[in-house]
Amino acid sequence: MSKTHVSTTINGDPVEFLCEPEQTLLDVLRDELYLTGSKEGCASGDCGACSVMLDGRLVCACLVLGPELNGRSVETIEGMAEGDHLHPLQQKFLEHAALQCGICTPGFLIAAKALLEKIPDPTETEVRYWLAGNLCRCTGYDKIIRAVLDTASEMRGS
Ligand code: FES
Ligand code: FES
Repeated sequence: MSKTHVSTTINGDPVEFLCEPEQTLLDVLRDELYLTGSKEGCASGDCGACSVMLDGRLVCACLVLGPELNGRSVETIEGMAEGDHLHPLQQKFLEHAALQCGICTPGFLIAAKALLEKIPDPTETEVRYWLAGNLCRCTGYDKIIRAVLDTASEMRGS
């Protein structure tokens, strides 16, 4: 089958690529554009490891098809830090040791960033509900939740 030409924006940069109709956004990011920060845990929308922002909305990249990206805007984990300057969430994940193997971490960071943009002062319950679609097999979640709450507090300047 012929490939589709797609023009999109990724982390603020214009990007063009060719993809098969059945390739997912996650396939395109990892296999065509070599942006391998987004991970594949399940490929079925169940683990959140592939979380990215699409037109400002949190989505599972494994559930979006590559051709759907035409004219749209994607933010991935590669766009989260500014050069050597980590996003406060990334810094707090390090400080709280909120990662072990790291497979789930990009997805958690993208999802947590989306939460704090929507709710700058979340309760612990709100953080836990918001991140319920992101699975971690290593940390037991508590350190992740603490890191997100600590980031929220710091970003509010309290
Ligand atoms: S790889 Fe997309 S939700 Fe698991
Ligand atoms: S740190 Fe290993 S799955 Fe979360």
